[in-house]
Amino acid sequence: MPELSYLNGKIRPISETYVPVEDRGYQFGDAVYEFIASYNGKMFCMKEHLDRLQHSMQGLSFPKLSETFIENAVFELFEKAEIPRAGIYIQVSRGVAPRDHAWPKEIKLQVIMTIKEVKEVPLKLRKDGVDIIIVQDERWSNCDIKTVQILPNAMAKQKAKNQGAYDAIFVSKDGIVREGTSSNFFIVKDGRLITPPLTKNILPGITRKVVLDLAGDTGIKVEERFILKTELFSADEAFLTGTITEILGIKTIDGIQIGNGKSGEITQKLYKALREKAEI
Ligand code: PDD
Repeated sequence: MPELSYLNGKIRPISETYVPVEDRGYQFGDAVYEFIASYNGKMFCMKEHLDRLQHSMQGLSFPKLSETFIENAVFELFEKAEIPRAGIYIQVSRGVAPRDHAWPKEIKLQVIMTIKEVKEVPLKLRKDGVDIIIVQDERWSNCDIKTVQILPNAMAKQKAKNQGAYDAIFVSKDGIVREGTSSNFFIVKDGRLITPPLTKNILPGITRKVVLDLAGDTGIKVEERFILKTELFSADEAFLTGTITEILGIKTIDGIQIGNGKSGEITQKLYKALREKAEI
């Protein structure tokens, strides 16, 4: 079960792959990415991830790269690595060119991937829920595009860790709740599931969509609407969603207990339903 990398068609051990220093992803953050997970040797929501990758590439005016080409490359790497519970990181950069803010016409997209075993969220955190903090959202206004420009996300996650918390959620300066550093955000109030609507200020999470569908299937009422910071502390439950995060209950926000201070009942029910769907 080797951990491997892919660079423009070549598959090698990760430690043997080098990206040229003038890759625009490296110098300008001029690259987009996806992260796909597999369960029991089967990729979960691959099409949805590849569609979102296309959306991100269009968002940065990249030339078209066929979905079949990327799909085949992902499968080739996945089959070589033989890791049943894998995390595949896919990055497409605008390419390599002498450093200049504008790019030359003849530049060629560069596709980089890595495949590794997924590090599961510890079971104790899944049961007990996690502590999160609030950070003001100072990111750019195209957060629906999954670019590698995620330094504010990294800084916010590190701030949370430095304070002994698990993660952070971004809240606008007007008090509108957006999303986590690498996850979407939900609350439960009076049996209803509430999550921010899709705008350019959040990533259209694949897990978010799966959770909304699962909630619909199990008869849980869903509202996609703005959540105010002031509403957070009267929520019955709150959770994060993401490809690795899956569905992760929140026990405190900025030190204030949410609901009964554990991963809530609806959170657990949806987590179970998600695992069942993914593990088929
Ligand atoms: N991140 N919001 C942000 C800012 C994210 O970075 C992610 C995912 C999500 C959840 O999206 P999805 O459900 O499609 O994974 C929401 C990935 C996992 C990452 O950065 O590695």
